[in-house]
Amino acid sequence: MRKKIVAGNWKMNLDYNEGLALFSEIINMFKDEATGQQHAVVCSPFIHLHSLVQLAKGYHNVGVGAQNAHQAEAGAYTGEISAKMVKSVGAGYVILGHSERRQYFGESNELLAKKTDTALAHDLTPIFCIGETLQEREANQHFDIIKSQLVEGIFHLDATQFGKLVIAYEPVWAIGTGVTASSDQAQEIHAFIRKEIAAKYNQQVANDTSILYGGSCNPKNAPELFAQPDIDGGLIGGASLKSRDFIDIVKVFN
Ligand code: PGA
Repeated sequence: MRKKIVAGNWKMNLDYNEGLALFSEIINMFKDEATGQQHAVVCSPFIHLHSLVQLAKGYHNVGVGAQNAHQAEAGAYTGEISAKMVKSVGAGYVILGHSERRQYFGESNELLAKKTDTALAHDLTPIFCIGETLQEREANQHFDIIKSQLVEGIFHLDATQFGKLVIAYEPVWAIGTGVTASSDQAQEIHAFIRKEIAAKYNQQVANDTSILYGGSCNPKNAPELFAQPDIDGGLIGGASLKSRDFIDIVKVFN
């Protein structure tokens, strides 16, 4: 089902107590200020997940997610965390294919296809990230790159499985740089993604998919971005580390 979603990606920030304090502020502000027509999701480091899920109890429009999960069910993968483990603490979401994982940890579309299958098998909602680098955009390859990330990463799913995904378009050149895609640039790619989904599945599946924008999104630029017809919310990095900023972005959907 297509939803308005503002998801925070804390990345590798905040120790345990800092994370709990920030999340408590977010919950309180959400309760007091958000109309509840939107979903707020916080994707924290693994160490916070269980406690955040406890704090979010009773808030049906507040979700908690991980930032990664392994493709295997279990086994000798020292240091890794499985989708089953993430699910077992009550988290509902998992970010997959973030460009930092693709870039620094060599995650390929093929690997991400497996991670997606495993996450779905454990009833997690993947927030599946796609996006081109600056070099690829300058070489005018952005549509091809986006298409191959879709085809190789998630188009093996059947329509029912696909309906459980959230997609995040995050141009790599806009992440953490302070440079945001213009609302026209973002809308152009979001419309393209939806068109590709319609061609692969059907128009109904495409209409029902939530597609988030990510990359230097903040309370100032979010209203214009989120007003675009194919942008259903945001995946927020830096601004999700400040409760006021994050909630102000959430409130764009009030
Ligand atoms: P940013 O990060 O908002 O700090 O650019 C977005 C993301 O990486 O998801």
